[in-house]
Amino acid sequence: MPHIRVTVDGVRYDDQVEARQLLTHYLRERLGKVGTPIGCDTSNCGACTVLMDGLSAKSCSVLAAQADGHDVTTVEGLASDGEWHPVQRSFHENHALQCGYCTPGMIIATIDLLRENPDPSDEEIREGLEGNLCRCTGYANIVRAVRDAAAQMRASGTAPRFVSEPGTGVPRQAAGEGEPLRPAARGGAA
Ligand code: FES
Ligand code: FES
Repeated sequence: MPHIRVTVDGVRYDDQVEARQLLTHYLRERLGKVGTPIGCDTSNCGACTVLMDGLSAKSCSVLAAQADGHDVTTVEGLASDGEWHPVQRSFHENHALQCGYCTPGMIIATIDLLRENPDPSDEEIREGLEGNLCRCTGYANIVRAVRDAAAQMRASGTAPRFVSEPGTGVPRQAAGEGEPLRPAARGGAA
């Protein structure tokens, strides 16, 4: 059984995992991170999206063993000091959800989108989130929420908080500085 050392939402874990266990199952079943839902289990819907070293990854397309040495952030790790992340707040304020099943993945994918493009057009937002499916909202409020979050983050100078050295949680680079880290385990564009 592979032994992994992984940081999830700021907590380090040393664990034995089944060689074929998916990261999404490890997060939900072993760590109780049920805020990361499973929609399709086949890398299509984006519901299971998490950040790996600050980059979005579909956790149903990553093996838990591949998370060894990496820093994983789920939707449950976004708030800090009792405050929602601006993207969480914006989704709430703009009514960008109905059943909420897609929402954790949408929020995580939005954080990665805004790291790469802090001022996206509506078209760029739709393109950036095309790997995340919503069966309820029709996307209009989601696009509005992303636009609003982007404006708030630009106005407040909110730094990209989740690009970090693997397994350390230590910020690695600011937006726009150098090439972003691209872990081999990244599970496709979210
Ligand atoms: S559960 Fe649908 S992409 Fe992972
Ligand atoms: S809010 Fe229901 S799937 Fe998106």
